[in-house]
Amino acid sequence: MELSARAAGDNGSSLMKILVTGGAGFIGSAFVRLLLSGDDDLSVGNLDALTYAGNLENLSAVDGDPRYRFLHVDLRDAEATARAVEGFEPDAIVHFAAESHVDRSILSPKPVVDTNFTGTFHLLEAARRCQVGRFVHVSTDEVYGSIDAPDDADETWPLHASSPYSASKAGSDLLALSYWTTYKLPVSVTRASNNYGPYQFPEKLIPLMISNALAGESLPVYGDGQQVRDWLYVDDHCRAIRAVLEQGRPGEVYNVGGTADLPNLEVVRRILAATGQPDSLIRYVVDRPGHDRRYAITSEKLMRETGWSPQMGFDEGLASTVAWYRDNAGWVERVRSGAYREWSERNYGRRQAELESL
Ligand code: NAD
Ligand code: TYD
Repeated sequence: MELSARAAGDNGSSLMKILVTGGAGFIGSAFVRLLLSGDDDLSVGNLDALTYAGNLENLSAVDGDPRYRFLHVDLRDAEATARAVEGFEPDAIVHFAAESHVDRSILSPKPVVDTNFTGTFHLLEAARRCQVGRFVHVSTDEVYGSIDAPDDADETWPLHASSPYSASKAGSDLLALSYWTTYKLPVSVTRASNNYGPYQFPEKLIPLMISNALAGESLPVYGDGQQVRDWLYVDDHCRAIRAVLEQGRPGEVYNVGGTADLPNLEVVRRILAATGQPDSLIRYVVDRPGHDRRYAITSEKLMRETGWSPQMGFDEGLASTVAWYRDNAGWVERVRSGAYREWSERNYGRRQAELESL
């Protein structure tokens, strides 16, 4: 499916219509900005419930672009989802919307299952009824669980999810793929490693540690800090999703890995160096229950089939991310107000007691 050179959409219009879900979040907003960065003849709908993680400020760059439209819809509402999809008549759906944070899924699993599994089901049903021509389900390498060195998981690796978050994603991956096998809805699944970059909600490791370091606050490292993650710059991830949308095969899964396998403590130390703060800000806190020790994947299939490769080196990506958070202190301040403070107190202030009471 070519995005730019398409003469007529399946719905008979001359535009290629792409419905993005979760477009007000971190990765979804980067994807919407990428789609609209050129002068492609596109119509982009952004279906988003605007949870704590959704922020239309992330999309100020496309404000006023006549090709962009916002649809305020909660995927947990099956009828509203069906109406929105029918009304927009997409040629393609790219599904980002999710409850995306492991720690929140441990303390409150219900919204995670409701959105990630049931919400995906509602979207798949709507897509099936409207005979949408392409469906990309955006997932995570966390579905493979912890991988012992020196292995890297490929797409045939068994699913071994450890948290309610990763289990809900694994379930939704299988459900999405079943819609290809059973109904021939042309679904592809992407499984990316840990993302970082501008506009990431400061609850995930990198933006949390950068925001805390810039504010001179302590940096909470879970357990011994030797857990390994494979860091992927958000724009590299978005280019991979566009490649799968255009060239991916239905019924197939594509891993999307990054450029740096690093232990958390090393990442934290590099952030302290980049922000000019001392290592004494590191505070070791109670470990995450069920904490996966190491994520590691190979993206060889995606590279071979689409020619994609990650472009951003980790040091350069981290430096530009630190600069973005330094320059956007107002954004951080706004997203950290209100409900964020309540969450932070629950996960960090009362951490020991909360986790012991599970
Ligand atoms: P995010 O938390 O920043 O954004 C999620 C978006 O989904 C928000 O705009 C939110 O308002 C919206 N949303 C949540 N529940 C909804 C609902 N019920 N109905 C409609 N909209 C809803 O997430 P992110 O980090 O941008 O992740 C996007 C996708 O990428 C997720 O599916 C996630 O599993 C996947 N992923 C993330 C990472 C990562 O490192 N962040 C890595 C691999 C895969
Ligand atoms: P996170 O950004 O939540 O992503 P994920 O759990 O999806 O990999 O966490 C990345 C790593 O950082 C993970 O090993 C947990 C760890 N971590 C901390 O040590 N302290 C923190 O405050 C957070 C949020 C994460």
